[in-house]
Amino acid sequence: SERTLILVKPDAVRRGLTGEVIRRIEAKGFAITRLEQRHISRDIAEQHYAEHADKPFYAGLVDFITSGPLVAMIVEGEGAVAGMRQLMGATNPLEAAPGSIRGDYATSIGENLVHGSDSIDNGEREIGLFFPDA
Ligand code: GTP
Ligand code: MG
Repeated sequence: SERTLILVKPDAVRRGLTGEVIRRIEAKGFAITRLEQRHISRDIAEQHYAEHADKPFYAGLVDFITSGPLVAMIVEGEGAVAGMRQLMGATNPLEAAPGSIRGDYATSIGENLVHGSDSIDNGEREIGLFFPDA
């Protein structure tokens, strides 16, 4: 079935929101088929966000995503990529709908709690980076 890589980012782990994110994924009906808390290296972070390498926020993004442990998951189900983007809400939490994870719990575009792959192809690439044996 369709797969996407979800990250509970370091701000959400620090704030004790890991369980809330997992609860929403399960309540929606998606399957969590891999899950691991880890503190990622700068190398992995730079590969994960390679598409943003020339953006002004890239250095801060890599600093943030490596600032503490995160929880990486493979989430599976019909329409998992788009469905998880809906659950997450818009990138800028101030524009994210109430009821979405970012809309309900975040205010900062830099610290927006969750990552979800933005396409099936990127999802498979990111799963290969975080869970090479999956
Ligand atoms: P991810 O799931 O983390 O990939 O977020 P996204 O797909 O909703 O957004 P995108 O891939 O475009 O950007 C990756 C991350 O970079 C976002 O989650 C933000 O934290 C950060 N980011 C994106 N745009 C900006 C910006 O204009 N300013 C700042 N400070 N950060 C940004
Ligand atoms: Mg993205």
